[in-house]
Amino acid sequence: TSNAMWGGRFAAGPDAIMEAINASIGFDKRLAAQDIAGSRAHAAMLAATGIISPSDAEAIREGLLTVLSEIEGGDFPFSTALEDIHMNVEARLKEIIGEPAGRLHTARSRNDQVAVDFRLWVRDQCDAADSALAALMEALLGQAEAGADWVMPGFTHLQVAQPVTWGHHMLAYVEMFARDRARFADARKRMNLSPLGAAALAGTSFPIDREMTAEALGFDGPMSNSLDAVADRDFALEFMAASSICAMHLSRLAEELVIWSSAQFRFVKMSDRWSTGSSIMPQKRNPDAAELIRAKIGRIFGANVALMTVMKGLPLTYSKDMQEDKEQVFDAADNLMLALAAMSGMVADMEAQVDNLRVAAATGFSTATDLADWLVRTLGLPFRDAHHVTGSLVAMAEGKGCDLPELSLADMQSVHADITDAVFEVLGVDNSVASRTSYGGTAPSQVRLQIARWKEVLG
Ligand code: ARG
Repeated sequence: TSNAMWGGRFAAGPDAIMEAINASIGFDKRLAAQDIAGSRAHAAMLAATGIISPSDAEAIREGLLTVLSEIEGGDFPFSTALEDIHMNVEARLKEIIGEPAGRLHTARSRNDQVAVDFRLWVRDQCDAADSALAALMEALLGQAEAGADWVMPGFTHLQVAQPVTWGHHMLAYVEMFARDRARFADARKRMNLSPLGAAALAGTSFPIDREMTAEALGFDGPMSNSLDAVADRDFALEFMAASSICAMHLSRLAEELVIWSSAQFRFVKMSDRWSTGSSIMPQKRNPDAAELIRAKIGRIFGANVALMTVMKGLPLTYSKDMQEDKEQVFDAADNLMLALAAMSGMVADMEAQVDNLRVAAATGFSTATDLADWLVRTLGLPFRDAHHVTGSLVAMAEGKGCDLPELSLADMQSVHADITDAVFEVLGVDNSVASRTSYGGTAPSQVRLQIARWKEVLG
């Protein structure tokens, strides 16, 4: 026997292995709701344009709702022999309503059908990413508000650089995740055009109304070239590119949380809800969620590269290679959503160890730049000379095994005779951060301005 949907010209059915390599139902069943929405819009349009009768359209509409509730109820008999979600739905529709089911595929191909289903699915994921990112930004903003003036070390090269504030560090991620949100929103805007009506590749001779189906499915309009409509998957790639960049940000934050929760740093305490223990070492409290976020990010990058590779050699228009688009995007989207949710939970629950942050902020000669700036401002030294003088003082402190504020005035004056007592005021970490009031700087006053701005943005 041969396939009921396309088997007219075939005498024999496919080999079992052919069936196995060809079938996508195992994963594209996730497009059921989108497939049925697309079919309902298409059927309504076929009736409105007089291509099928109103009674057939009504039978199709009702039948599709039954199919949807069967699938949602979890008792739908998915069949590998029927290849994919499109033919599984149509075959079941035929069982339920009979002959009118065969009219649904008029002026349509699985090529525009799958393109529309997948666009609808990816569009939903852009919206899901948007809400998940908003939640994460809220969590970070909560941390920033609590610690707008908590002093911590800022790093370059993971070496102590200058004191910064906890709030400022949290807001740095708010900025990154806001740009990620904008990337998803931008991709969504561009993908929101309907391929439905492109048919197999060339359009159709039936008097269809593509504006009508586009509108019914929430698209801004129909795509303008039928070949492009069935051939490209750049919308999925844009989603994965935005996901990859967002994932990279998540991974950096995850890495910081792993470092910060170590016994050497003790910058944060992760809550019990986001930590795990060891089966042998009773003292352990591991930041597994952060580690798994960091690791899962690799799958998102991988999916992005995999789909780029699938697409890069394909001549126009549709090739069956493109069936491989879905698992990559599903996996990337699932892991991104999981990582975003886990990160939001971890960030909301974590507790900064404020005293440890403060001690760490004052070590490693973190206010050396403040000293150099003081020499410029007070003694009128060129910055390069001030840098050199300060370097000598750092070397002296290092030799004595102390920090800059512990040097005596006599020590200081042995390096530069004009240094006065006033210098000690700029060597404290609170002074250091409070002085950095340039726009976007780490001063608590600046941080509070930015917090207020973000609160307004997030509503
Ligand atoms: N299952 C297919 C896919 O996901 C649907 C499109 C099939 N079209 C075709 N001409 N074989 O890509």
